[in-house]
Amino acid sequence: MKILITGGAGFMGSNMIHYLLRTREDVEIVNFDNLTYAGNLTSLSDIQDDPRYTFVKGSIADADAVDKVVQGMDLIINYAAETHVDRSILEPKAFIDTNIQGVYNLLEAVRKHEIPRMVHISTDEVYGAVMEGESSEEDKFEPRSPYSASKAAGDHLCHSYAVTYGTPVIITHSCNFYGPYQFPEKLIPLFTMNLLEGKTVPVYGDGQQIREWIFTEDHCRAIEAIAEKGRLGETYNIGTGYRVPNMDVTRKLLELTGRGEDAIEYVKDRPGHDRRYAINSTKLRTECGWEPLTSFEEGLAKTVDWYKTNTDWVDGCRTGAYKEYYDKQYKDR
Ligand code: TYD
Repeated sequence: MKILITGGAGFMGSNMIHYLLRTREDVEIVNFDNLTYAGNLTSLSDIQDDPRYTFVKGSIADADAVDKVVQGMDLIINYAAETHVDRSILEPKAFIDTNIQGVYNLLEAVRKHEIPRMVHISTDEVYGAVMEGESSEEDKFEPRSPYSASKAAGDHLCHSYAVTYGTPVIITHSCNFYGPYQFPEKLIPLFTMNLLEGKTVPVYGDGQQIREWIFTEDHCRAIEAIAEKGRLGETYNIGTGYRVPNMDVTRKLLELTGRGEDAIEYVKDRPGHDRRYAINSTKLRTECGWEPLTSFEEGLAKTVDWYKTNTDWVDGCRTGAYKEYYDKQYKDR
């Protein structure tokens, strides 16, 4: 089976490549990645010589490159995306190029070359903040950041192609992922690395914003189940039901890293910060027989341990594009 993973040098894409090579003999994987600031081939250095794996550098925003790379694929999993809300507030353009134009290019190539199946990775953030209850697949989109608006537009394109042209695409909306290889701009890797280095952690506002969390391996298993058993043209939410305020996550990280409350620094809130996300994942569980296997406590302990022991990867992240971004983001604080 030939599988194209777009964004395979990023956090979730690289986890999926590891997962597939570890669990399946019968795969040939092409990783198509533009190596932007969040793409890191070091995350794949252990499998780079595996004969089942090939890397192709390119962007999904480049229609010609997409047209070439999709040919002959049995399955495309689109992980390529700009994903960080704070970055979308500072510089939205890349989000429009990758998350909208890039998805359009993929859909056109899937249509033209009659690729049998594409799974598009998206986010619970398209539903907007839900102060109570849960978002289900039928709920309307109410994105509130340039990031979530760009993902919502890409999702609408996927849906419209499925309806209009019968394009074989499945859309997934996941809660927040965490685990090894996550770039340290997101809450869990940023806080973990700061705490391990003796720095403070920037908690936005009152820290009572609620997120639902899934460990990376459970997410890989969900995508595998959806690729195998999901119905074409459908949307599936991926969630664990584990929902907690950011302060709870922060306190667990303090405990795992042996740091005290003095490491917490309350900083100015994110503009338009969504207070709560919660998704209903019954459809995925019933139709595809999936359920999460890793508890938050277990997943978080594994994650902190990974950041403690993979110092080369961690040091590599602290330079270049990340440093520039970090200095800009936190210069007023
Ligand atoms: P993040 O990891 O950026 O994911 P998302 O915004 O897509 O859910 O943020 C998770 C939560 O953590 C969100 O409520 C914002 C908050 N947060 C902080 O309090 N401080 C930080 O430095 C970051 C990056 C996030």
